[in-house]
Amino acid sequence: MTDVSQHKQQLRDYFDGDGFQRWSAIYGEAEVSRVRRTIRVGHNRMLARAEAWLLEWVSATGRDPHTLNALDAGCGTGVFSTMLAQHGFSVTAVDIAPQMTAATAERVRAAGVAQRVTCLTGDIDAVAGTFDVVACFDVLIHYPQPAFDQLIAHLADCTRGLFLFTYAPYEPLLAAMHWIGGFFPRANRRTEIQMIREDDVRRAVGAHGLHVGRIEPIRSGFYHVNLVEAVHVER
Ligand SMILES: C[S@@+](CC[C@H](N)C(=O)[O-])C[C@H]1O[C@@H](n2cnc3c(N)ncnc32)[C@H](O)[C@@H]1O
Repeated sequence: MTDVSQHKQQLRDYFDGDGFQRWSAIYGEAEVSRVRRTIRVGHNRMLARAEAWLLEWVSATGRDPHTLNALDAGCGTGVFSTMLAQHGFSVTAVDIAPQMTAATAERVRAAGVAQRVTCLTGDIDAVAGTFDVVACFDVLIHYPQPAFDQLIAHLADCTRGLFLFTYAPYEPLLAAMHWIGGFFPRANRRTEIQMIREDDVRRAVGAHGLHVGRIEPIRSGFYHVNLVEAVHVER
């Protein structure tokens, strides 16, 4: 196995095991610890901002979401997939961890939008086709370069409209906080949050026919990401 496929296997095992319990609690509504609450608040704030940018883009293009398709890459428990489907998008929700995909299927069923969502278990890199909207939240934060560049390249190639994603900005304090918080696989805690410099993000996205628009820091306690908006440029 290559380093990248080993890394993915490790993430799959984590998010299908301990990580599933940990993150599904954070993405749910049950009582959680103070530290996890800060992550929940930050994550909710990030998703709300992403939703606002999505709706601005829809309105600027004059398109009806019922005619558009979207990819939620690394969908986790399906919070954003559900929101996309509620707005009328046809959604492909993909996650490498089977428990996450199952949780997404359950969430969209409970929300009454299952008919608009296709749930797939697998690697983002294996997704075929193009989408009007591609979302990839809090997934790339787990990938160091060059795997980060490879995923960005693939997701950019899948985008024919809007690409929204988060990355972990280069901040040494962030790595220390996540190490202390222990939110990632024990064997690899110190390296699990992969900080990327903004110039590298711009270069990776720009190299694949997308124009980077807004980049907004979202901060709440242990939650530190930058939300990025990139738009396909007709050539
Ligand atoms: C921290 S969770 C974020 C979930 C969701 N995007 C959200 O923001 O609510 C990261 C997710 O990415 C998934 N993931 C990581 N690498 C992946 C890959 N190569 N292909 C598909 N899913 C992946 C994990 O299984 C996990 O569910």
